[in-house]
Amino acid sequence: MPRLTEQERQEILRYIEADKPLPDKYRFLLFEDKREVELVWNGKTSEVCNIVLPFQVIEQVDEPRAEKPEDTAIQSSLFDERGRQLRGWTNKLIWGDNKLILSSLKNGPLREEIEKQGGLKLIYIDPPFDVGYDFSMDIEIPSSDGTSATFTKKPNILEETAYRDTWGRGADSFIAMIYERLALMRDLLSEDGSIYVHCDWRVNGYIRLVLDEVFGKGHFNNAIAWHYSGWNKKLSTSFERRHDTIYFYAKSDQPIFNSFFEPWESKEAYVKARKQKIRIDDDGREFVLSDAGGGQRIKRYLDEVMEQGVVVDDVWNLDKINNSAKEALGYPTQKPFILLERIINASSNEGDIVADFFCGSGTTAAVAERLGRKWIATDLGKFGIHTTRKRMIGVQRALKADGKDYRAFEILNLGKYERQHYIGVNPNLREAEQQKQLEEKEAAFLDLILRAYRAEKTTGFAAFHGKKAARLVAVGPVNLPVTRLFVEEIILECRKKHITKVDILGFEFEMGLFPNVLDEARSKGIDIAPKYIPADVFDKRAVEKNQVVFHDVSFIEVKPHVSKNTVAVELTDFSVFYSQDSIANAESAIKNKGSRIVVEKGQIVKVSKDKDGIVTREVLTKQWTDWIDYWAVDFNFESKREIIRVKDEDTGAWEERWTGDYIFENEWQTFRTKKDRSLELKSVFHECMPGRRKIAVKVVDIFGNDTMTIVEVSVGKSGGKK
Ligand SMILES: C[S@@+](CC[C@H](N)C(=O)[O-])C[C@H]1O[C@@H](n2cnc3c(N)ncnc32)[C@H](O)[C@@H]1O
Repeated sequence: MPRLTEQERQEILRYIEADKPLPDKYRFLLFEDKREVELVWNGKTSEVCNIVLPFQVIEQVDEPRAEKPEDTAIQSSLFDERGRQLRGWTNKLIWGDNKLILSSLKNGPLREEIEKQGGLKLIYIDPPFDVGYDFSMDIEIPSSDGTSATFTKKPNILEETAYRDTWGRGADSFIAMIYERLALMRDLLSEDGSIYVHCDWRVNGYIRLVLDEVFGKGHFNNAIAWHYSGWNKKLSTSFERRHDTIYFYAKSDQPIFNSFFEPWESKEAYVKARKQKIRIDDDGREFVLSDAGGGQRIKRYLDEVMEQGVVVDDVWNLDKINNSAKEALGYPTQKPFILLERIINASSNEGDIVADFFCGSGTTAAVAERLGRKWIATDLGKFGIHTTRKRMIGVQRALKADGKDYRAFEILNLGKYERQHYIGVNPNLREAEQQKQLEEKEAAFLDLILRAYRAEKTTGFAAFHGKKAARLVAVGPVNLPVTRLFVEEIILECRKKHITKVDILGFEFEMGLFPNVLDEARSKGIDIAPKYIPADVFDKRAVEKNQVVFHDVSFIEVKPHVSKNTVAVELTDFSVFYSQDSIANAESAIKNKGSRIVVEKGQIVKVSKDKDGIVTREVLTKQWTDWIDYWAVDFNFESKREIIRVKDEDTGAWEERWTGDYIFENEWQTFRTKKDRSLELKSVFHECMPGRRKIAVKVVDIFGNDTMTIVEVSVGKSGGKK
């Protein structure tokens, strides 16, 4: 029988003619030299992403709530009197898809910084094997009857796309997703580094083979069975599944490894395990006889054995987190502290960098910080990033209270540049061709946004691109925030052509643009509605299905209080304009005696039907403060420039460049926790140098989205709001 069918021959020819790599399956058909065992899936390729995008720092948390200079005394060698970390490594919490993050870490300038710290020693990942669970969030909202209602926030389309890419084609797409990321992680690890991959029965068979391929069979160390307790049901076709598997692979034969002990349950348990009887020596000490090899028997004293404990093997009996556990944060897939404590202690040393690229609620980072390690944590979900931010501030506060050391951390993303990448022009083209490609791409971008917004294209305007009902639509630039200048040009054209209703769509709006610019336009009879373009516009399917929602910009109002050379900020109003589902929809969909929670135009409403089908609506967000989960203040905004490192195309060297933005330095913050739902509405008075300054206030709502506003104040004898 011929080795290849006619169809396969044709397919190979097509690949060759298109100058594309052959799919892996042909390796087996064309060449004799096969690997022993290998997992092959549809679309398998050894190509790995090598894009480098600059990281953008969106927030820096130096020392939380450093209210007075004395507060920084504990680590005065590491922090200045304003609470800024003076030197050394800053921990990193990165928002975005870990594929781009990993390839930017691997190939970009941060790599050098990582290597300077001795390299990345340990990676723990717990990828989303709990199908569909990870991006939906249950948010507790207090009800009028004193109980609380649970609202399930659906994933946004970006998260849904990630989920679809991961699970859309079942195991195939999951394995393809993890394979590429594992290859990138392997390249990032230092030679003495290790990786722990957490998985359950659904995917552990595949992951083992993928890890064998990426790390080499010889670098397999353990398949740890994490067994957890629970109430076993008697099932009719199988046993209860009661463990997860954590694969431990090393990059080389010489990984960092610290074996450790746990205490014996009791003296009796030890004696039983040894199958020996207790003897007593002349001094009255209890011992058992133990085989020391070569027929030799030695005495093992029970007091010493009990002190030392039993060396840990690869079956770990540790409880899962239950809802009432002290550490529970309400993140559905949160793993226990004690599990990560074992892994981090075993495979890293103090001062080492530990990373988790699917960090969820930030367990790895929290444990790493407590154990004196440096950390990098990344997640695609905003809610995960926000949960980790709060958690890490909590850890910093606790360490500070105990007089222990902790590090600053920064929150980064690739946001602006991910979009730039989308419009990216091939740098290898000639200049004229580059220009042509740029124009084409920009036109395609405009079309895409207008289609997603369901607006018609218009011509003949300088500032406008489309029209939707009675409103003209202006689309902001793809790789820059909407600036004051951009809005001023819109106002100018409105005045010339008597236009009164405008929507501005932007990925980002220059900080401090609102609400002033809107008031100014209103005073001229122009109604401007700024709206955020969600990242999901890049998802073709979402656009086709009309699923893309452009949110109004949230609104914050603050009042500064100046007293001599101190200033405090009071939060006086906040509004959001989200929608998820609709009241009308819920009313027709729910059955008698049922209820559903929806979000409509910034109100969370519980819609219920009684036994006779009578509908009632209860607004759960009665006060504006109900929307706020967290807010923070930078008392001297614009004092830290955001610097990125980009490659000089001519010399190939990395150059520092100011992006024109400033980093939000988180100097004071208050937030709700699962246990303490209260929120302060006024910050402490913060000592400042006399003079004019800008204060930035960031608010994060209960869905994890953040907004910022800026106020200018004069501090000193004649202080007050500008
Ligand atoms: C099982 S959870 C991790 C839970 C975590 N171990 C903890 O203790 O909280 C998986 C996480 O992976 C994140 N995730 C999924 N796909 C991702 C991607 N492509 N890039 C980054 N994070 C991703 C999800 O948002 C989710 O938070």
